[in-house]
Amino acid sequence: MSVDTYKKTAKDFTFPPNLDDYDAARREFTWSRARKELDWFGGHLNAAYNAVDRHTQTWRKNKVALYWEDEAGNEKKYTFEELSLLSNQIGNILKDFGVARGDRVFLFLPRIPELFFGFLGILKIGAIAGTLFSAFQEQALADRLGNSEAKVVITTRELKLRIDKVRKKLPNLKHILVVDEPSFIKSLAHASTELRIAHMDPDDYAFMLYTSGTTGKPKGVMHVHRAILQEHMTAKWALDLRDDDTYWCTADPGWVTGIAYEILGSWSNGVAAFVYAGRFDPKKWYSLLAKYKITVWYTAPTAIRMLMAAGGTLVKTFDLSHLRHLCSVGEPLNPEAIKWSIKVFGRPFHDTWWQTETGAICIANYPCMDIKIGSMGKPIPGLTADIVDDAGQPLGVKKEGNIAMKPKWPSQMHTIWRRPAKFKSYFMNGWYISGDRGWKDEDGYFWFIGRADDVIKTSGERVGPFEVESALVAHPKVVEAGVIGKPDVMRGEIVKAFVVLEPNTKPSEALKKELSEYVKKHLAGHAYPREIEFIDKLPKTRSGKIMRRILKAKEMGLPVGDTSTLEEY
Ligand code: WT7
Repeated sequence: MSVDTYKKTAKDFTFPPNLDDYDAARREFTWSRARKELDWFGGHLNAAYNAVDRHTQTWRKNKVALYWEDEAGNEKKYTFEELSLLSNQIGNILKDFGVARGDRVFLFLPRIPELFFGFLGILKIGAIAGTLFSAFQEQALADRLGNSEAKVVITTRELKLRIDKVRKKLPNLKHILVVDEPSFIKSLAHASTELRIAHMDPDDYAFMLYTSGTTGKPKGVMHVHRAILQEHMTAKWALDLRDDDTYWCTADPGWVTGIAYEILGSWSNGVAAFVYAGRFDPKKWYSLLAKYKITVWYTAPTAIRMLMAAGGTLVKTFDLSHLRHLCSVGEPLNPEAIKWSIKVFGRPFHDTWWQTETGAICIANYPCMDIKIGSMGKPIPGLTADIVDDAGQPLGVKKEGNIAMKPKWPSQMHTIWRRPAKFKSYFMNGWYISGDRGWKDEDGYFWFIGRADDVIKTSGERVGPFEVESALVAHPKVVEAGVIGKPDVMRGEIVKAFVVLEPNTKPSEALKKELSEYVKKHLAGHAYPREIEFIDKLPKTRSGKIMRRILKAKEMGLPVGDTSTLEEY
């Protein structure tokens, strides 16, 4: 296979990169030495304090931390000090409601400023923050709030209606704080701005995120305060953030990228972040890049592909000359997307690889390093990654296997909430097995092949087939459903469902639409099947498990492979 390499030259280095010698850093770097990058309270720390408050002790106190704009063009901005005080106020309100260390407080909010200082406030009092993507509907909410036994939810009037529908199923949910209710606005204004920040053990939980696997309900991935160490270092090395940057991460804090690189690791580097609380729109996005003079941009392949599809004329009408570093995450970054970005922005996108479970970037392309176009780059300093076989034996170069890492890195998940066995199942023979397949080349670059399981990645978002199948089966006309990710040029994959209908139900286009809408309305706005096919029977193993790989092979016109465990079908 021939590989194109983007060789870095002087024009790629407006400034010397934060990480200027990757090989030296790999040899010499240790996490214990990196501790001095953060403020510690003796042996304790608080991730939120490190992200925001410590800057108020420096010249950054009055520096803008957050530039915010919504679809209607409303603008707001907050300095580090303002974020510090507002998060103290939220912390005090939560304390008044009886929230204590270790309690779960969930944020079910669109990307409004309250989401950001709310998150910080929760961490500051030692409670555990959870985020809920605003597209979630009743089933997704009930699963997450129920399993975590959340005590408080912070939401808006509009989104609260969805929680009301499932409130009966949530006996542990004591309070719902509604940020656009006059009573909340008043209590925020009156809350004390003084707060004693909780000094946490580095291994105390800071936040949790629900994510999907092949089977079962979404699982609560637990992250600790120490994670900020790796989030901080990777924001420095891979995103190359520095004080004079205006940085735009387009992710939603409902997912891990928004937490690690829109709140914790990015602010910890003292950067001014821009947040856009609106939908994707090529013209709007270009205009924001220009208006805010964005210098570092972290986005996802689906968005890049959609920008490519919007054409080359549009982008030329904007002054994007401030961009100096581009990064991508979430799904495979096509070589075409990198080549396109070199053409239109004069710079390549730098791919980064990580997962909800890893808590921070693990493999990346760095500004100081040439890019082998199509590769995810190399492991970060301080972390050992390798390709191992199904028994956990390292495979060497140019062999396909499991992308694996040596525990323990600082931002590694600490457990799966109330499911220790599930947590254990990630580890084998001293390796963390990521669930992704790939290979590494003779120069140590890692290349992505695909998922080892049935997890779907649609527009960069992780969707579990089981959740969608369950949502479909709840419909009275559906007997069974098998759900797969179908390759899609724009979205990477789309959710496709194979559905077995109740006898005497007539299949129709209208019914397909009805079922799609049903999932959208009950589970989540982003996880619904864009394609539905009615079939008579699902392929299953003798033990009754749906064999999604057979559905997928059929869909793609590929050989179905080993069917020896298959029930007759
Ligand atoms: C899965 C993790 C990491 C934050 C957002 C996603 C896929 C992630 C890449 C990449 C190819 C990638 C993997 C991974 N993925 N980055 N650079 N190239 N695939 O977190 O929702 O937990 O998803 O996203 O399959 O396992 P997540």
